[in-house]
Order: sequence, then C-alpha cells, then structure tokens
Amino acid sequence: MFDEIPKPAQSLLSLFLLLLASLSASSLPNRPCASSGAANAFPFCNSSLPVLTRAKSLVSLLTLDEKITQLSNTADAVPRLGLPAYEWWSEALHGLCANGPGVLFNGSIRAATLFPQVILTAASFNRTLWHAVARAIAVEARAMHNTGQAGLTFWAPNINIFRDPRWGRGQETPGEDPLTASTYAVEYVKGFQHEDDNGRLMLSACCKHFTAYDLEKWNGFARYTFNAKVTEQDMEDTFQPPFESCIKEGHASCLMCAYNQVNGIPSCAREDLLNQARDEWGFKGYVTSDCDAVAIIYENQTYSSSPEESIADVLKAGMDINCGTYLLRHTKSAVEKGNVQEEDINRALLNLFMVQLRLGLFEADQNNQWFTRLGHTDVCTENHRNLALEAARQGIVLLKNENGLLPLKRNKVESIAVIGPAGHDADILGGDYSGIPCQPVTILEGIQDYITNTIFAPGCQNMSCNSTIGFDHAVDVARKADYVVVVAGLNLTEETEDLDRVSLLLPGKQMQLVSRMASVTKRPLVLVLMGGGPIDVSFAKQNKGIGGIIWIGYPGEVGGQVLAEVLFGDYNPDGRLPVTWYPESFTNVPMNDMNMRPDPSRSYPGRTYRFYTGKTVYRFGYGLSYSNFSYGFLSAPDKIILSPPSVKTLHIIKSPTYFKTDDLDHVYINDISSCEDLKFSVRISVFNHGGMDGTHTVLLFVRHISNLTDYPVKQLIGFERVRTNVGETAEVEMFIDPCKHISTANKQGKRRLLLGAHVLMLEDLEHEFYIEA
Ligand SMILES: *[C@@H]1O[C@H](CO)[C@@H](O)[C@H](O)[C@H]1NC(C)=O
Ligand SMILES: *[C@@H]1O[C@H](CO)[C@@H](O)[C@H](O)[C@H]1NC(C)=O
Ligand SMILES: *[C@@H]1O[C@H](CO)[C@@H](O)[C@H](O)[C@H]1NC(C)=O
Ligand SMILES: *[C@@H]1O[C@H](CO)[C@@H](O)[C@H](O)[C@H]1NC(C)=O
Ligand SMILES: *[C@@H]1O[C@H](CO)[C@@H](O)[C@H](O)[C@H]1NC(C)=O
Ligand SMILES: *[C@@H]1O[C@H](CO)[C@@H](O)[C@H](O)[C@H]1NC(C)=O
Ligand SMILES: *[C@@H]1O[C@H](CO)[C@@H](O)[C@H](O)[C@H]1NC(C)=O
Ligand SMILES: *[C@@H]1O[C@H](CO)[C@@H](O)[C@H](O)[C@H]1NC(C)=O
Ligand SMILES: *[C@@H]1O[C@H](CO)[C@@H](O)[C@H](O)[C@H]1NC(C)=O
Repeated sequence: MFDEIPKPAQSLLSLFLLLLASLSASSLPNRPCASSGAANAFPFCNSSLPVLTRAKSLVSLLTLDEKITQLSNTADAVPRLGLPAYEWWSEALHGLCANGPGVLFNGSIRAATLFPQVILTAASFNRTLWHAVARAIAVEARAMHNTGQAGLTFWAPNINIFRDPRWGRGQETPGEDPLTASTYAVEYVKGFQHEDDNGRLMLSACCKHFTAYDLEKWNGFARYTFNAKVTEQDMEDTFQPPFESCIKEGHASCLMCAYNQVNGIPSCAREDLLNQARDEWGFKGYVTSDCDAVAIIYENQTYSSSPEESIADVLKAGMDINCGTYLLRHTKSAVEKGNVQEEDINRALLNLFMVQLRLGLFEADQNNQWFTRLGHTDVCTENHRNLALEAARQGIVLLKNENGLLPLKRNKVESIAVIGPAGHDADILGGDYSGIPCQPVTILEGIQDYITNTIFAPGCQNMSCNSTIGFDHAVDVARKADYVVVVAGLNLTEETEDLDRVSLLLPGKQMQLVSRMASVTKRPLVLVLMGGGPIDVSFAKQNKGIGGIIWIGYPGEVGGQVLAEVLFGDYNPDGRLPVTWYPESFTNVPMNDMNMRPDPSRSYPGRTYRFYTGKTVYRFGYGLSYSNFSYGFLSAPDKIILSPPSVKTLHIIKSPTYFKTDDLDHVYINDISSCEDLKFSVRISVFNHGGMDGTHTVLLFVRHISNLTDYPVKQLIGFERVRTNVGETAEVEMFIDPCKHISTANKQGKRRLLLGAHVLMLEDLEHEFYIEA
C-alpha cells in the first residue's frame, strides 16, 4: 500500500541534504523547501508533483522515532530535514482565541475581532453573512500566522446538533436543525479555508466533534466516558448530516473525533464511520482526536486493556493525530509489542503531510499569495467591526413586544436604568472560545450613546445571583428612570465546556430581580436575555410589567451598540431562534437519552422542533419584528412524479398497513438515479404591512400528512432572508431537493422518500403536494 523509497536513494538524499544544510544553514531551518536546490534534493519540495507523491516522499525520509514525534498536536521539528516544529492546535470558533496553544496574543497583534457566539450568528439564517464572518476570521487568523502568533490549522466549526437545551456547548453550534447546521458548516469551511482549484488552502478548518457529542456532565455521566447510544435512524437524519455536508460540500480538511463512545466504541476508534467519511463523503484531510481522547480509551473507558492497544484501536481506525502526548509516549512500545505496524503510522503521516503541503507550510516563497502578505493592519479593521455589527444585528431575536413598547423613541426618553450584573461587563459578551476583543462596548455604554442620562445598577454581583443584597439599590435606580432595561440570563458560570445546566430557569435569584423590577418601574420594562442555551422565561411572557423581551445570545464585542440600535429602532430585528425553548419540565428528560424520536409508551417527548410535541416557551424559528409580514405561495408544485429514468427501477416499498405502522409507502433514495431531476422551486411573496422597513427571514418547512412518531412533525427545507420596505412585496425563490430535504431515515438508517401528501408550511400558510410513483 505504501511505497518506501529504496534505502540507497534515501541515504544519498540525506547526504545531499547535509551538504545543502551546511551551505545555507540560515535559510533552511523553518522552510525546508526554501532553497533553490531543495526541489532537486527532495521530491517533497517539488510542487509540480502531486501532493500524495510529495507526502510519500517525505514520509520515506523519516526514521520510526522521527515519525512518532509527528503524532501529537505539538509536532517536533526534524532539523535533519529542515522540517519546522508545528503546533496543530489553534482555535477560531467566532474569532481568534487562545483556548489552544497555537494562538498567542503576545506579538505585534494584541487583539482580534470578537464576533458574536455562533448560536447568535446562526439566528440570522443568512448564508452570505456566515461565509463573510468565516472569511474575516480567516484573514485575521492568517495575519496572526504571518506574525508568528498562530498556526494554520484551526479546530472549528463545532457542528454537533444542539440536541438537549442543557448542553453547555450548545452556544458554540448553529443550533438544533440539521439543515441549518449543515449549511452553516459548509459556509464556515468554504469561507475559512479559501481552497483554490488545485486544493491549495489558505487555512484548514475542522468539523467537530465526530460524532454524537453533546453532553458534558449530567447526573454522573461525563463526556469522557459517556456511551452515546444512537439509533441508525437518528444517526442518518440528525447527527451525521452536518458532518456529511461539512466534508462533501465544504471540503473540510480536518475531522475531530469526540471523547464519547458511539454505541459502545470510542469515536476515535469508529473505523466504519471514519471510512465512511473518506470513502463515501470524499474526505481528504487529517483526523485529530479531541484532547486526550486516546488516553481515556484505556484509562477511563477501560475499552482497551493497555495504552498500546488504545493506540492500535485509533490508528487502525483512521485517526491521524492525537491532541496530547499519549501517542508520543506509547507508540514506540505499541510497535515493539506488535500492536501497531509502521505502515499504520505512515498512513497517518501521509494525511498530515498532505494537509501541511496544501497549506504551503514548507514552501519556498511565502510572499506569493495575497494572504501570505497579511499582517497586523489586517486585524481589528473597520470592515471586520462592521461585520461583527451586522452579525449581531441580524441575529438578535425579539421575543415579546407588548403594545408596541419597542422601539423606544429617542427624543421621548429622558432617562434609562440598566439593571443586572451583565449590564456593564465586557467579559460576558463573547461566550466561550473568546479571544481578546479589539474594543468592546458594554450594554451600558451602548445605551449611554443614545441617552446620556443612563444609570446602572447590577442588582446581583454576578449571573449566579445568589444574593438579594443589591436589589434595594436597583429598585431605587429603576424607580427614578423613565425606562428600565433589565439584563438577565446566562454566563459561562452556568453553561460552558465541561458544564451543562441543571435547570432551564434563570439562575439563582435573577427571576426575583426581574419580577421585583417589573413591579416598581413607571412603565413596562424591557428584559434582555443573554446566553446560548434556551431559558424558561414563562413568568416574563405573562408579566404585564414586562413589555419587551429580547434575546441577544453572546453578542460579541459590539453587543452593547447593537442592542441599543435595536432598542431605539435603528435596526429592525429579524433574527429567529435556532433552538426550541423548552419549559423547565424538560429537565425531567434524561439528558443521556439520545433518541430524537418520541416514545409515548414511556412518556419520552422527543427532541427538537422536528420531533418534540410538548409545550414550548418559544418555538424553533420564533422571532418578531417591528413590522408585520404576510406570505403567499406564488408557485409550488402540486405533484412530483417519480418515474424512470430519474428513478432506476421503480421499487415502491408498499406498506401493508398504511398509516398504522411506521412504514409508509416509499422509495429508497438509493434507487433514485437523478435527484437533480426531482428538484423543484418554490416562489414565495413577502408583504410588509407596515411599521417599519425591514428584513424578514422566511423559513419554509415541510411535513407529511401522516402523524406517526417516526417522521418529523415538520422539517425545515429552506430559508432565505429578504429585504422588504413598508407597503411593498418582495419575492423569494427556494430550490428544494427532495432526496436531501424531504427524505427521512428508516429504522435501518436507510434514506427514503415517502409517497403521498406532503405539506409545505410558511407559518400558518400551507400548500399540499403529492409525491407519486
Ligand atoms: C519536479 O517534478 C517534475 C514532474 O515530475 C519533473 O519534471 C521535474 O524535473 C522535477 N523537478 C526537479 C527539480 O526535480
Ligand atoms: C509569547 O508567548 C509564548 C508562549 O508563552 C512564548 O514562547 C513567546 O516567546 C512569547 N512571545 C513574545 C513575543 O513575547
Ligand atoms: C446577509 O448578510 C450580508 C452580509 O452582512 C448582508 O450584506 C446582506 O444584506 C444580508 N442579507 C439580508 C437579506 O439581510
Ligand atoms: C482518567 O483516569 C486517569 C487515571 O486514572 C485520571 O487521572 C483522570 O483524572 C481520569 N480522567 C477523567 C476525565 O476522568
Ligand atoms: C461571567 O463570567 C466571566 C468568567 O467566565 C467573568 O469574568 C464575568 O465577570 C462574569 N460576568 C457576570 C456578569 O457574571
Ligand atoms: C458570585 O457572587 C457571589 C457573591 O454574591 C460569590 O460568592 C460567588 O463566588 C460569585 N460567583 C462567581 C462564579 O464568581
Ligand atoms: C453564593 O455562591 C457562592 C459559590 O458560588 C458561595 O460561596 C456563597 O456562599 C453563596 N452565597 C449565598 C448568599 O448563598
Ligand atoms: C401587527 O399585527 C398585530 C396583530 O395583527 C397588530 O396588533 C399590530 O398592531 C401590527 N403591527 C404593525 C406594526 O403593523
Ligand atoms: C393522528 O393522530 C391522531 C391521534 O393523535 C389520530 O386520531 C389520527 O387518526 C392520526 N391521523 C393520521 C392521519 O394518522
């Protein structure tokens, strides 16, 4: 499988190299291919050769011990060949951040644009924005690489489905919907990697965490040892689609395997899934473990009976690099004991070197591309700040606006009170995986820019809010103000990596604080909610003293400015919730139960808007505007007929007991030879009834008219934002691929297209169409 260069050639090459190294010692160390003779000396430096050939040649030059030093995120230099040391682990989830060792803020670049946390940017449902934000992060990342402050390989995006509202890292994801998460993944990776036609990369992005990872710590379960029991059905139509898209369409050059086991096998040892990624989805890149995910296979999961066995499990399954030192420490003995063969290591190195070569890490000329010339003036730019503003604006969700309290009229407001511990805190603006922001604007500062007479009272010391000591002072401040804005919600002390929530209610005594304020203010107050996870604010929905509710997620460094723009109507809110907001009673559902589908026999309610049929506080896709909009279907199909040649052999699976079992008449997607032929377009009109010009987010759902628990209640199949001025109608067109959007998986995880009546849904407006064979 792997061609070794014959020994004599190898030693000749090393000799030549030694000679070369002694001739130009100063130019060689960091760029092995920097000298003009390098391509002669090393085939791996010859950029006319295919990347695979070059990588093979490089692998053939290394000794076993040298190879082993490459199997960690912190890979050693090989001075003999001029190979630089390389740190694989850099982070850039929503801006550069120092969560990994690869990013350093101590050089000529001291800060980077802090974009909103992903869950808020996702709420914009704007592909163009997602792409643009990823590109901006990439520009700053490449600039930091060029100043020696970052690597080229970044471990973002996090595209696990936000399955349970308690998940501490749900904030990092694009939410609970597979189509949204898939689309986000593709836009992020394409925007970030900037791959050219020859497969050259500006940077490398990583789809994580592969797979079914969405639990940190719950009731004795921990991510390091959790065995996620996932049905083939849920795997196919919920957990895997974002990864499939990330690779197939986004061409991600990295996959990270997760800590957890999937059906009894550690994710990093799931050879079948890693092979599927390469063979079926066309993955070309490297697989990294999450940090220390190999060590835990033996030490904590006791899945293997020795460190060496763990290493064999993951290397033979297709993992290429371990975040941590475990492989550095135990691979040699794994080879000696015969658990691992050198060709397993060669295979891993090939994947690693190919990515480094595609990134141009060894190339001679580092100034030959626009991005190799980026530097400190390309970070914290006005353009990037404007984009951070756009992301926060387009994401913020208006949840309640009783009697048109909002927007406030600037010239009619004498004074404002900002109440709540987050009101003047710059550290809370980014959520987790935040770096050092360029110039943060707190909520207080943002509002003060509009109303000079704005007074702040924290009420509680922090978001945990376990004391009422500050309440009286807050009452005094709130009583005197014309209008009151209470900032409540979550912080990383409630939700973050390694920390899931136990309650969906506001933490500590925050609810008391909000209600107390609502009882003393002159007018109904505005409640601003921070946080990534959904919050049960039923009390506030009903409370007449609370006129408005706005969700701002973790809005990034310009959060204060954008909130003020929304409060005063300089921006008409148009974000939509990317997750279901459940009531507190949902905490009775075991978090470790991975089933998406409901099971009435054991009162299991199912998860996410696609399957959950219980009460919600706010549903997925909810979001108000300062205007009202209405829809019309301008054109949509009445019938889609599956017939040859687009369907190979007309293999209709007839259900004997139509509508009584979970097996309706259907056609397997694999039997459809041309999904392209089945694509259809839906044209929709959006009319702005007035109030204010604005942008509207159209979410198109589909459902099947049966209501069996096996099928989604409804399913998002298209989304599009559209600008519409008062009294005007705008038009939106969406292209639907039935194979991709309308199919669901059966119990065996096979995708099928149901026959019969389906319904397109735009809020309350419905259009029925038939799929017939
Ligand atoms: C680089 O590879 C090309 C294609 O195989 C070959 O023609 C060329 O001679 C090589 N260059 C050097 C310097 O070896
Ligand atoms: C930045 O920090 C790293 C790691 O602590 C250190 O190795 C490096 O020398 C520092 N660079 C500067 C310019 O201070
Ligand atoms: C989507 O985002 C881009 C980038 O911010 C923006 O230019 C565009 O106007 C947005 N589209 C709509 C319809 O809001
Ligand atoms: C895993 O086991 C090791 C060795 O027993 C222990 O030191 C470590 O804390 C454990 N890690 C986790 C995450 O449980
Ligand atoms: C939020 O948590 C961060 C630490 O993660 C802390 O610095 C900040 O003060 C906290 N803010 C509030 C309002 O609790
Ligand atoms: C929050 O403030 C309280 C004092 O009211 C303090 O005891 C607690 O440690 C703080 N919590 C955090 C996470 O900072
Ligand atoms: C608040 O919580 C902190 C720990 O987070 C604790 O030290 C402190 O005693 C608590 N205060 C009250 C009033 O419960
Ligand atoms: C939007 O519609 C609601 C209910 O139909 C109505 O109460 C409200 O006044 C309308 N708002 C605007 C801005 O037209
Ligand atoms: C839908 O469910 C209800 C009970 O929940 C049942 O009475 C009805 O027959 C079902 N409809 C279909 C089309 O299966």
